[in-house]
Amino acid sequence: MSRNRISFDLAERLDKAPAPTVTLSLLGRIFSFLKPYTAYLVASFGVIVLSAGLGVAPSLLTGAIIDKGLLAGDLALLCQLVLLSLILLVVSSGLGLLESWLSANIAQGVTCDMKNRMYSHLQTMPHRFFTDTKQGEIITRMTEDISGVRSVITQTLASTLRNVSTIVITLVALYRTNWVLATAGVVLLPLFILPTRLAGKRRWAITRQIQQKRDESNQMLNETLSVSGQLLVKLFGREGDENRKYREINDEIRKLTVTETLTGRLFMSTIQIFSSFTPQLIYLLGGLLMMKGSFGPAVTVGEISIIVSLMTRLHRPVDDLLNIHVDITRSLALFERLFAYYDMVPDIADREGAVEVPRLKGQVTYEHVTFGYRPDAPVLKDVSFRVEPGCSYAFVGGSGAGKSTLITLLPRLYDVMGGSISIDGMDIRDMTLASLRRNIGMVSQDTYLFNGTIAENLRYAKPDATREEIEEACKKAHIHDFIASLPQGYDTLVGNRGLRLSGGEKQRLSIARVILKDPPILLLDEATSALDSISESHIQAAIKPLLESRTSLVVAHRLSTIVASDKILVVDGGGIAASGTHSQLLERSPLYKKLFETQFTVPVKEDDHGTTDHSFDGRAA
Ligand SMILES: Nc1ncnc2c1ncn2[C@@H]1O[C@H](COP(=O)(O)OP(=O)(O)OP(=O)(O)O)[C@@H](O)[C@H]1O
Ligand SMILES: [Mg+2]
Repeated sequence: MSRNRISFDLAERLDKAPAPTVTLSLLGRIFSFLKPYTAYLVASFGVIVLSAGLGVAPSLLTGAIIDKGLLAGDLALLCQLVLLSLILLVVSSGLGLLESWLSANIAQGVTCDMKNRMYSHLQTMPHRFFTDTKQGEIITRMTEDISGVRSVITQTLASTLRNVSTIVITLVALYRTNWVLATAGVVLLPLFILPTRLAGKRRWAITRQIQQKRDESNQMLNETLSVSGQLLVKLFGREGDENRKYREINDEIRKLTVTETLTGRLFMSTIQIFSSFTPQLIYLLGGLLMMKGSFGPAVTVGEISIIVSLMTRLHRPVDDLLNIHVDITRSLALFERLFAYYDMVPDIADREGAVEVPRLKGQVTYEHVTFGYRPDAPVLKDVSFRVEPGCSYAFVGGSGAGKSTLITLLPRLYDVMGGSISIDGMDIRDMTLASLRRNIGMVSQDTYLFNGTIAENLRYAKPDATREEIEEACKKAHIHDFIASLPQGYDTLVGNRGLRLSGGEKQRLSIARVILKDPPILLLDEATSALDSISESHIQAAIKPLLESRTSLVVAHRLSTIVASDKILVVDGGGIAASGTHSQLLERSPLYKKLFETQFTVPVKEDDHGTTDHSFDGRAA
């Protein structure tokens, strides 16, 4: 049975992973994390060896107490030896304390370093990594896996060292005492260890099965006792089947648990039998030596007691060491898992010699841009267009046409596969990511707010923004009055812990956030969800100042946004199918006409259709 106290789940995952190949570089990397703690490591190594050495003292002292004190009848020496035992006991428990302190320092230090490094590394990973990684996986690496490292240090590393030193020192003490009895003891060791190992293995296997069955049972409870699950059970009349299934799982758990308890008991009994019986065999052999001592060195009663008590000290470390490969394999697998994360190269990063650009004018050029989320399935094919500084282009097209994809390429959330994108004539890949992204503001289809106050969320765009600036931005985004009406105003908590904002309010907040950032280039991905006409009109009013004096690429779903833009591009079949003004396109592009009729939300007035000079301004002002 493993004494490495990593969680059962983690142990399971590590056991399932392909066996790690031990290479020098892997070991080197592991030790590179330990390096800052070399002083602690050396100290802890010393303490461990010292306590292992002190560990044999009580046995040796007992031997001396019997031979030189009790049997020799020397009361003064007896008292001294007893006192010495007490002192040694106190010293060794003090050493134990020191060792815990040292190893806790190492373990906490290493895990803390690993977490910090992992977190900053993950910050450099591209958007694709977060969209493609299974939910929960990243958090598990950050928390459970790195915590596993703590057990590796405090358990595997320290206990291996302790076991090896205990065994070596105990063997030396054994052989110095009496080599015949020592050899007999070593020969008898497997008698003790093998049965316990077998029982331990069996027990671990059963525990594993029980855990699986428990998971099954929990899943079943979650599914069938949930509102919708129960509804399904009732409507399909499956109560009987579900009852039977549950009984079966439960029955198996019952049987397995009984077996496990029995195996556990068996485990304890074998330990008891053998640990009690091996000393008896030593006594027998020692007796033979004492009484018919012709076949070996002479032995005293005290020495026999030394051998017996030293032998029992060997059992546990030897048993542990025989299991150590399991712990070591798991530890290496754990480090491999973590290193695999450290090794992920951020494929979207600053190029060698990337330029820190100042505030750009905002001429955006897409030239023969090709892109797909998978190399074999392009979403955009050979897309070219240019937006002059300060102009607003609207992109329209069917759902899934690639509009959002098109604009996410500009801040390099993804890199183009072919062609290029440039701003003010410079390829965006030649700019530093930070300076490129400083020049771009994005209001995405689904707005995200962090847990915190409204003001904190707004300051995310500009940490040093004054209250006046924030209010100014919110007024422009038509959300100030709403915020002011809240009892706690700008200090109202939003997100999980606070106020639930409506979709429209969230959008206006994120518009205010971008107004605060004040970038020369704006990307706006209008939400497709239809809002009621009042929210709709608020949003339209909020968007207007956002578009002013900026280059903007807008994925538009609303007529008012479309007609407010300088040019409309129809995205279809991975390319730009048509372009022009609203009225031009209505005449020229049947696809646009169809989109217009089916998709564009038309707020408030019906007679807005088809005219380019109407705009939202009139109503909003
Ligand atoms: N992260 C992603 N990984 C793989 N495929 C994606 C990913 N995001 C989008 N796609 C696919 O790329 C295509 C274009 O998606 P995109 O989001 O650009 O469409 P859209 O024009 O914005 O649609 P909508 O109007 O519904 O927002 C779709 O087929 C979509 O399934
Ligand atoms: Mg989209």
